Amino acid sequence: MPGQPAAGATHARGNAAAVAEPFGTAPDGTPVDRWTLSNGPVTVRVLTYGGIVQSVEVPDAGGRVTNVVLGFADLAGYVEHNNPGPYFGALIGRFGNRLAGGRFTVDGRTHQLPLNEGPNTLHGGPEGFDRQVWTTTDVSDGEVAGVRLTLVSPAGHQGFPGTLTTVVTYTLDAASRLTVHYEATTDAPTVVNLTNHTYWNLSGEGSGNVHGHVLQLDAEGYLPIDGTLIPTGEIAPVEGTPFDFRTPTAIGDRLRAGHEQLVRARGYDHTWVLGPTGEEELRRAAVLHDPASGRTLTVATTEPGVQFYSGNFLDGTLVGTGGRVYRQGDGVALETQHFPDSPNQPGFPSTELRPGRTYRSTTVFELPGDVRAG
Ligand code: BGC
Repeated sequence: MPGQPAAGATHARGNAAAVAEPFGTAPDGTPVDRWTLSNGPVTVRVLTYGGIVQSVEVPDAGGRVTNVVLGFADLAGYVEHNNPGPYFGALIGRFGNRLAGGRFTVDGRTHQLPLNEGPNTLHGGPEGFDRQVWTTTDVSDGEVAGVRLTLVSPAGHQGFPGTLTTVVTYTLDAASRLTVHYEATTDAPTVVNLTNHTYWNLSGEGSGNVHGHVLQLDAEGYLPIDGTLIPTGEIAPVEGTPFDFRTPTAIGDRLRAGHEQLVRARGYDHTWVLGPTGEEELRRAAVLHDPASGRTLTVATTEPGVQFYSGNFLDGTLVGTGGRVYRQGDGVALETQHFPDSPNQPGFPSTELRPGRTYRSTTVFELPGDVRAG
């Protein structure tokens, strides 16, 4: 049987490793590497360009290994199409999602960022963290495969105040958990809201839409948005709406429900509020299950929100990693983060970072693992 080991064998644990290889050259001439993290049956590929998770190969219920995230086959795909575009797999900074008017005020000083989506700034601007080449070091230890990425964003970069030093660590452990840990420090008061923008299709990238995937979101409230997808400031109860995923529900079940919020965003593109905010403990945010392959992804985070984006703007114009075209709904992003536009929304948890303090955030993607380990 494909993917089945010899009788009695298990994948050797303790084989965790991270290996780098050249992956082309960024537009400014900086060489780009691709890291391959492997641990048992799971393989994760991360680019130094944008800290992009290019592929995540995991077994299905029968042991067949497939890449379950959307992306491009080569660096040119990311450089040419990812921003503006889908931000496949990228580290997003300095500020995930939208800032209204591309503007915010810290300590009485207003900062104007470049606009890159109508009247707003999306995902940190046109030259955000997703387009920077990060420096990397191997942090594998035999049990865990890992790579640490560092980026120093100078004061004024994309309009943000303060020199921001960001360190993101991807680790892949023996329990098939991909952990993303973020830390950032600044030398002047600023705002920060980091996330990762991986799109999942647990049947395999390029295999069609994810409307049959069953999603659970551990949230009683969500953030309604206005016509430019900026939160109105209200936290609305999910109860009785197509936004209620407290019990596992197929993504496609209510996608065409005619709800005003779904029309505005062309689908789901909202923040779900993960219980009381201000806590720094990991809590489960989402469970995504694909009945077709038997694969399940569980997402836990220290963040107060998760942006569930149902791939509404994928329109059949991009060719993905495996050579197939991506169409609307062919992948789903679960972006753990603080709320969009927080600096302009007094009711939302603060995203301010001041000198002497460290921004810390952790998200764990529990991937489909070794079927033989149960
Ligand atoms: C946003 C979408 C956007 C997508 C790709 C998501 O995080 O919420 O509105 O289209 O990223 O850029």
